[in-house]
Amino acid sequence: MLSKTIESALNKQIRIEAESSQVYLAMAVWAEIKGLEGISNFMYDQSDEEREHMLKLVKFVNERGGHAQVSELNAPNVSFDSFKQMFEKLLEHEIFVSESINELVHISLQEKDYATHNFLQWYVAEQIEEEATARTILDKINMIGDDKGGLYLFDRDIQQLTVVSSAAPDTGV
Ligand SMILES: [Fe+2]
Ligand SMILES: [Fe+2]
Repeated sequence: MLSKTIESALNKQIRIEAESSQVYLAMAVWAEIKGLEGISNFMYDQSDEEREHMLKLVKFVNERGGHAQVSELNAPNVSFDSFKQMFEKLLEHEIFVSESINELVHISLQEKDYATHNFLQWYVAEQIEEEATARTILDKINMIGDDKGGLYLFDRDIQQLTVVSSAAPDTGV
């Protein structure tokens, strides 16, 4: 059984993951209308992944006798000055999510909820991976600068870009 403190902290994370899915959906749409299909597909995939992160939390809360909250979401940014700015926002957002996960881990220890603590380790590893991917992309975008040809090639190659963290367990998700 979840304590009320843990339940509400997990519900807050459910909302953050749902908002993350919307943040990346908006980026996918923006990239698509700008004609960069590779970047757009990458963002659609990211959006789907965030929904998976949310669902995993929803199931966990319900399985442990809590009530997962499906709540109203903040609207995401829908347009960007440049691809560079969009990828900066992606990294910023992932750092924000990592901080939120860290706080959740902290609360689980305070509450002596070791089952939740164990469950959250997957998210800790996932965030290392997601931040690393965002940083790798941003490094590449910074190298490309304003070069249209570079962006064209990057758009073609982004699908192959996966950063596998040694800390991430292979969960098949
Ligand atoms: Fe996530
Ligand atoms: Fe993420």
